[in-house]
Amino acid sequence: MPSEQSPLFYPDLALSKNAYVSSSAEYQQMYKKSIENPEEFWGEIARQFHWETPIDSDKFFRYNFDLTKGPIFNKWLDGATTNISYNLLDRNIRNGHGDKIAYYWEGNHPDDYSRLTYKKLLEEVCRFANVLKSLGVKKGDRVAIYMPMILEAVITLLACTRIGAVHSLVFAGFSSDSFAERITDCEARIIVTADGVWRGEKLLQLKSICDQAMAKCAQEGHNVQHCIVVSHLERVTSPSGSQRHSNRTPMTEGRDIWWQDVVPQASTSCYPEWMQAEDPLFMLYTSGSTGKPKGVLHTTAGYLLYAATTFKYVFDYKLNDVYWCTADIGWITGHSYVVYGPLANAATSVLFEGTPFYPDNDRFWAVIDKYKVTQFYTAPTAIRALMKFGEQIVKKHNLSTLKVMGSVGEPINPEAWLWYYKVVGHEKASIVDTFWQTETGGHVLTTLPGALPMKPGAAGFPFFGVQPVLLDENGKEIKGEGEGYLVFSRPWPGLMRTLYGSHDRYEVTYFSKFPGYYCTGDGARRDADGYLWVTGRVDDMLNVSGHLMSTAEIESVLTEHEHVSEAAVVAKPHPVKGECLYCFITLSEQGTYNEALLKELKTHVRERIGPFAQPDVIQNAPALPKTRSGKIMRRILRKVAVNDREVGDISTLAETGVVEQLFAMRPPNA
Ligand code: WTA
Repeated sequence: MPSEQSPLFYPDLALSKNAYVSSSAEYQQMYKKSIENPEEFWGEIARQFHWETPIDSDKFFRYNFDLTKGPIFNKWLDGATTNISYNLLDRNIRNGHGDKIAYYWEGNHPDDYSRLTYKKLLEEVCRFANVLKSLGVKKGDRVAIYMPMILEAVITLLACTRIGAVHSLVFAGFSSDSFAERITDCEARIIVTADGVWRGEKLLQLKSICDQAMAKCAQEGHNVQHCIVVSHLERVTSPSGSQRHSNRTPMTEGRDIWWQDVVPQASTSCYPEWMQAEDPLFMLYTSGSTGKPKGVLHTTAGYLLYAATTFKYVFDYKLNDVYWCTADIGWITGHSYVVYGPLANAATSVLFEGTPFYPDNDRFWAVIDKYKVTQFYTAPTAIRALMKFGEQIVKKHNLSTLKVMGSVGEPINPEAWLWYYKVVGHEKASIVDTFWQTETGGHVLTTLPGALPMKPGAAGFPFFGVQPVLLDENGKEIKGEGEGYLVFSRPWPGLMRTLYGSHDRYEVTYFSKFPGYYCTGDGARRDADGYLWVTGRVDDMLNVSGHLMSTAEIESVLTEHEHVSEAAVVAKPHPVKGECLYCFITLSEQGTYNEALLKELKTHVRERIGPFAQPDVIQNAPALPKTRSGKIMRRILRKVAVNDREVGDISTLAETGVVEQLFAMRPPNA
């Protein structure tokens, strides 16, 4: 466990002096205003954006978080109308940033790179918006996206917002089954993808995954009308050298359309669709503890305000800075902090297609050096993976431009924090350990880089407008020091509004455990200095390399195998991934526990969910530890996974002998 006694690390003086928020007192003052007078606090920010229909101060902010008082809702700026792409592009161009670079695109191969200004980005967005319109896409329609880290991904998202379509981007590491489930759930008729992408030395044939997904959708009675495909492989350098990839992916006549065949001739102007503040902006699926993914829905005005404001203050972004977030666009971090937050601030960002390990293990540091990156945002799993290669490889590059470095996705262990701070940031750049969720839309806990001293491993304090509370099992508030369920007692503009097509599930999942509070599903501890330390999930969720997944999801895929009658999955600590999957399987009589079966199961999980979900250990478990009511005691399985025989009280188990048997049967390599 990280030590609360750990020393405080103070922000660099020069950074503090120039920061938007330069002291703890200033943070406290702004925070107080955001809580006591949200209309004034967010109203001042909102006025920096364009509203086609003005904000009605009577309807600025309304909510109910208490199920006993009626349905849960959360509305901001209701009645005002705007358009996100207009605010991100046209508004910035009017403010003189038309020739500013919005993105430096850095390809998988270091020979491949390009750039896009705000003016050009607007033209491309309008072109693609016109193409979508010509295919019949209208306001409110969902568009499913399965794309790599290329400029067309950003263009696609913004083109959707231009015409009021709701984008539903699915991480291009999900399997065709997972993609199909998500397309069907949101009833998307249009898919946007690329033929493929190189990730390091690996070629991912994205279009063929889409073909399989579309075939599965058709079996379920859902027909995708069009699949727009960016021809990407031909224009990039393959790992083997400079030759281009000429193998063109098969296209289905009438359904599939090459991006390059339709976009260049479309018009570069497209009048924006004015959207209501509470109109849906996008949905993004996140794992649910029942196994079925949840379509988290974000709306227009509140999300814009929150992504913009968190980006500005948490990264302390100034106009000449170059910002780089390594997250894939398929996750919420990519949505809020590769696309919406940076563009709302007229930022210049790096969009990186590759991996930290290609062509060498110093790629991240080389890219920071190349673009003189000032703000860098990545995940603890990446930091831990890169630490292994030592300091020398980092020192080869000039990283002195770094001012702020973020961490996201899982708790960062103090060892990785210190390495990041000392070796990468030269004890000069501030670290912001940002705690948040797909559901929260943007950062909710962090320290601000120029204002607050840091503690390695602690997320810190609430962002403006956010009111965290720790509750005990009985729902009683823990004041001062202590550990409990991390909940929030009021909404901020970026909090999700509902789960797509399932408001009941939204209310049950997030608001039923503790009436009056939004429940994160994470635990946290408050130390004597008021810092919050996120301790991890308290529900049946796993976090592998920052990818959230549910035990139920993996278990149901394992039991799809004809010889697996029951499965239980727990998280085991992993030095790089944070957590890895340790699976217990009970076999049917016909089943034999052997290498072939293990291989089949691993492949099956990869195919059904995605490569990131592949189990590290699969243990044979003739029986699982269950209570008399039949509930699997995962607490015990977690002990078996780490070979810790201090299992605690097992008196509620129906069969206590099971525990000894499980320890005895641990695979030798586990
Ligand atoms: C975990 C990612 C500790 C947490 C933005 C949360 C973190 C889940 C942190 C959401 C952090 C994220 N410290 N834990 N800084 N950031 N988490 O929806 O368990 O992919 O509930 O959003 O990641 O994951 P999601």
